[in-house]
Amino acid sequence: MAPRITVIGTGYLGATHAAAMAELGFEVLGLDVVPEKVEMLSRGQVPMYEPGLEELLGRHVAGMEGSSGRLRFTTSYPEVAEFGDVHFVCVNTPQRHGEYACDMSYVDAAFESLAPLLNRPALVVGKSTVPVGSAARLAKRLAELAPAGTDVELAWNPEFLREGFAVQDTLHPDRIVAGVRSEHAERLLREVYAQPLAEGSPFVVTDFPTAELVKTAANSFLATKISFINAMAEVCEAADGDVVKLAEAIGHDDRIGRKFLRAGIGFGGGCLPKDIRAFMARAGELGADQALTFLREVDSINMRRRGHMVELTRDAVGGALLGKRIAVLGATFKPDSDDVRDSPALNVAGQLHLQGAQVTVYDPKGNRNAQTIFPTLAYADSALEAVGGADVVLHLTEWREFRELDPERLGEAVSVKHLLDGRNALDPELWRKAGWTFRALGRPTA
Ligand code: UGA
Repeated sequence: MAPRITVIGTGYLGATHAAAMAELGFEVLGLDVVPEKVEMLSRGQVPMYEPGLEELLGRHVAGMEGSSGRLRFTTSYPEVAEFGDVHFVCVNTPQRHGEYACDMSYVDAAFESLAPLLNRPALVVGKSTVPVGSAARLAKRLAELAPAGTDVELAWNPEFLREGFAVQDTLHPDRIVAGVRSEHAERLLREVYAQPLAEGSPFVVTDFPTAELVKTAANSFLATKISFINAMAEVCEAADGDVVKLAEAIGHDDRIGRKFLRAGIGFGGGCLPKDIRAFMARAGELGADQALTFLREVDSINMRRRGHMVELTRDAVGGALLGKRIAVLGATFKPDSDDVRDSPALNVAGQLHLQGAQVTVYDPKGNRNAQTIFPTLAYADSALEAVGGADVVLHLTEWREFRELDPERLGEAVSVKHLLDGRNALDPELWRKAGWTFRALGRPTA
């Protein structure tokens, strides 16, 4: 019989994983400790914006018309322990307050709640991004706590999904990494991922520490790529070069590749920034801090982008921000998401506001989350409304809808036709032709 699956934690990762497992044909029980989330998901509603996820849930949540009924949600650990053969732990590991290290309390709580209830054979699979060494520690904890003893095993199976593409990345992963200690665990994971494996997803079997490291190494590499191109943008600005052309040209070299070479206001979100910091902190604990000192530079290049955007804005409005009207297009950390965690766009908007500018923000999906974090900013319901009377317009998250804006129409609404593209995603020609002063990061001014 096919293994029954549980998913603990129903954030971006867990909710998507649960729905995807049901799509792959398994009976799935998702758990969250927040009752409101469980209620929403049980009605087939997604607590966040993620393209395609609501449709996927709708196809499988029990009780929804025409659904397979394979997916249910609960707040009960005993129910989860009783139900599952394979338990995926998908809770988040945010940055610890005032420190670089990551906060393992949600992971620890999940293991401490589940393990004592495991009376029958089970494979617990960690998916959360954790400091290397956590899996070994958690395996020991499982052995101490689980009544079923050695019939309960741990595997580490990091997740590489991107927000905005979560469904696609989960159903068709570009690789599956399985940190295991036994053939049995490997076999069970191969069974769970039989469909993507049949489609050709590579399956990389490792030990625990390597599996944990693959995740942090991958995110560190991506962060490094972005900061590299942003460092080139700084040099381009000083030398009057064009970073967009530069990225295109170096990207033609297969060894470098074109992806993740978009210069702009840098990376944010719930993953890259905190992952590189947690990685540095962990390397320090292990006595390998020297190996990762370059990540400090990656981090500071990235954070400098936000300050640079604020300075460009100050220049654009004539040297003083006080009382100036600034329209900010985009609040989320990337398009096709409503996630504003450590968002460069919102950070820039906030800094401008704190320096006395009147900032109006519009984001297609992120207004509500942004409002919770920054209630003192003004929010508009459309780009056109946001730019009304603006002294300068900032493009800070590259939603498709912003690329489709009509420069003529917006030109009639603003006070000054001045646009700063913080994402290098708009067509300078188009805007300049409509009479706008257009400036982008790392590109020539005219
Ligand atoms: C990232 C990784 O890409 C995923 O593989 C990983 O699974 C995930 O973290 C995680 O650890 O869970 P995500 O946070 O969704 O995914 O976002 P990315 O697509 O990596 O973008 C991160 C940030 O980099 C965004 O703010 C984006 O605007 C910025 N970025 C990206 C650039 O500034 N330039 C680029 O060329 C690409």
